[in-house]
Amino acid sequence: MARDHLLVIDQGTTSTRVILYDTKLQAVGQAQVEVLPTYPRSGWVEHDPEALIASVGSQVTTALLNARVRAEQIAAIGITNQRETTIVWDRETGRAIAPALVWQDRRTADACNRLRDKKEWISKATGLVIDPYFSATKIAWLLDNVPGARRRAEAGELAAGTVDTLVIRHLTSGEHLTDSTNASRTLLMDLATDEWSEELCNVFGVPIGLLAEIRPSTGDFGATRGLDYLPDGIPIRGVAGDQQASLVGQGCLHDGQAKCTYGTGAFLLAHTGGRIVRSQRGLITTRAASVGEEPPQYALEGSVFIAGAAVQWFRDGLKAIGSAAEIGDLALRGDPDCEVVFVPALTGLGAPHWEPSARGTIFGLTRATSMADIAHAVLEGVAFQIGDLITAIEDDLGDSLKRLRVDGGMSRSDPFLQFQADVLGQPIDRSPQVESTALGAALLAGVGIGLWPDREAAVALLQSGGRTFEPARGYEWRARALERWRRAVETTMGHYR
Ligand code: G3P
Repeated sequence: MARDHLLVIDQGTTSTRVILYDTKLQAVGQAQVEVLPTYPRSGWVEHDPEALIASVGSQVTTALLNARVRAEQIAAIGITNQRETTIVWDRETGRAIAPALVWQDRRTADACNRLRDKKEWISKATGLVIDPYFSATKIAWLLDNVPGARRRAEAGELAAGTVDTLVIRHLTSGEHLTDSTNASRTLLMDLATDEWSEELCNVFGVPIGLLAEIRPSTGDFGATRGLDYLPDGIPIRGVAGDQQASLVGQGCLHDGQAKCTYGTGAFLLAHTGGRIVRSQRGLITTRAASVGEEPPQYALEGSVFIAGAAVQWFRDGLKAIGSAAEIGDLALRGDPDCEVVFVPALTGLGAPHWEPSARGTIFGLTRATSMADIAHAVLEGVAFQIGDLITAIEDDLGDSLKRLRVDGGMSRSDPFLQFQADVLGQPIDRSPQVESTALGAALLAGVGIGLWPDREAAVALLQSGGRTFEPARGYEWRARALERWRRAVETTMGHYR
């Protein structure tokens, strides 16, 4: 039977999705299940690692059935994942010693504050900022708060990793591996060498022996072994954090190309080729996936923690709508000039402000304010955050971005993308593939097993097309709106500091 399909596991913050692709990178079937984090205390966000793993097995089985593809037809597996989310497990059994600490979890804010004096040095080595978002302080928290964990870690009994590493461990029954895009999100990898840094591990109190071996995204991540839903021996060859995977899936493989994915949060990445560009404007520098044999590639990234999560809050917290898709129509019924501003700092503010103590805030309410106006402000608030990121990226690059490609859940909403184009004053291109993350991982896996003659042949398979949104508002409106937004963010940051 021909091995002519690629199976991609996309383990995200709110769902696990499995997609099967043929050798032309066309999706032939998929399955998806919600896996929601829990919020046991204010600022804490957790996932059940066993539930994540169980969801991988169930969705692989369902996707194969839906696609009418047999496991024997899978040429390689690609993995893409929510990044930074941290798990510590027993090396022998693979059982987690505690819930996973999700990237949005803020419980290590104090630990981060205590390291402020090392900020310059850490940022130079890692490209990141000291923030609870990243994995290092999360690993240390687990070791210090789960009884006996630090002693067991020092005795070599435990392993730590991000979600890619957990999934690889499960699929291979034991390999302890990660890829450089995921490793670059931990605050423990030296960005210039692609290796764990002993010094960083010491500073964060993470025994280096806990960490997985780092491989390039199209490298060898072992093969399936000991599963009851897949045969042994299927190679795992494409692994990348979800934002780096979607950079590939959007065809942004060269210096100056940028994309924004609206998931739970929103992540704007601008490829900088082989250059490590250090941000002066509060962005982070991260590893982009190297496709095939190319040398290490990098990107500037602006990460905001709340995008789709603001719509979820509007639906589930305020119960203002029944389904996420309703927010666009409701927002269009709002008064576009009501001047209500929503700062979506529901889990602090990420780039470019990095203020973990900030809280979500609504400004400008009057007796006339309606739920539709607030819906409008929620969508605009997400769009303004992206506007801040673009300004910062353009300042850092000293150049304007040629074009912005967008994808992810919120990009399905025409009203939202119109707000986004208005706020930016630039056209934006919606990808024909609103789910470019899994596509990017499929491309990496296919390149990893040499499915196509060369990397260009693979990239040529990515679809072009989609829809462009042109700005409909003039300069004056934008200048006033941006000023209102800037003042709202400043007030929000100051209030809970
Ligand atoms: O850095 C966090 C990011 O990787 C999570 O992405 O799509 O699960 O919200 P998503």
